[in-house]
Amino acid sequence: MARHIVARTSDIPPGGNKVFGVEGRDIVVFHVNGEFFALLNRCPHEGAPLAKAACVARLTSPEPGVYQRSRVGELLRCPWHGWEFDMRNGQSWFDPQRVKVRSYPVAVESGGELQKGPYVAETFPVHVEDSYVIIET
Ligand code: FES
Repeated sequence: MARHIVARTSDIPPGGNKVFGVEGRDIVVFHVNGEFFALLNRCPHEGAPLAKAACVARLTSPEPGVYQRSRVGELLRCPWHGWEFDMRNGQSWFDPQRVKVRSYPVAVESGGELQKGPYVAETFPVHVEDSYVIIET
């Protein structure tokens, strides 16, 4: 699996998302509750861009007239027909065995972890002959 460095964490504001073209696919990265989630930016129903989806909460009801919200912002509601998907794994809420959005692992790493030093500049030998400075490349 290839790794792609797509953005600084500060490029995707909390509660927002950003779409990246990766190997010919549009992948949308969401920033929710301090975590990042990556999904194919295409609804499996008729192809709506999930970057335009509403980020909603899970609603449960133990009894009529009582409801509870959880996982606020982690469920996607498609902008075209309202199908809902779990941002963590792309599964649909209504048919988790058969319908899902492709999801991708996301990692957040510091610049120092991505590229270990020491960083060395390219150098060239220098000679001084009489009053001329000569650089060899
Ligand atoms: S295109 Fe997403 S629910 Fe129809």
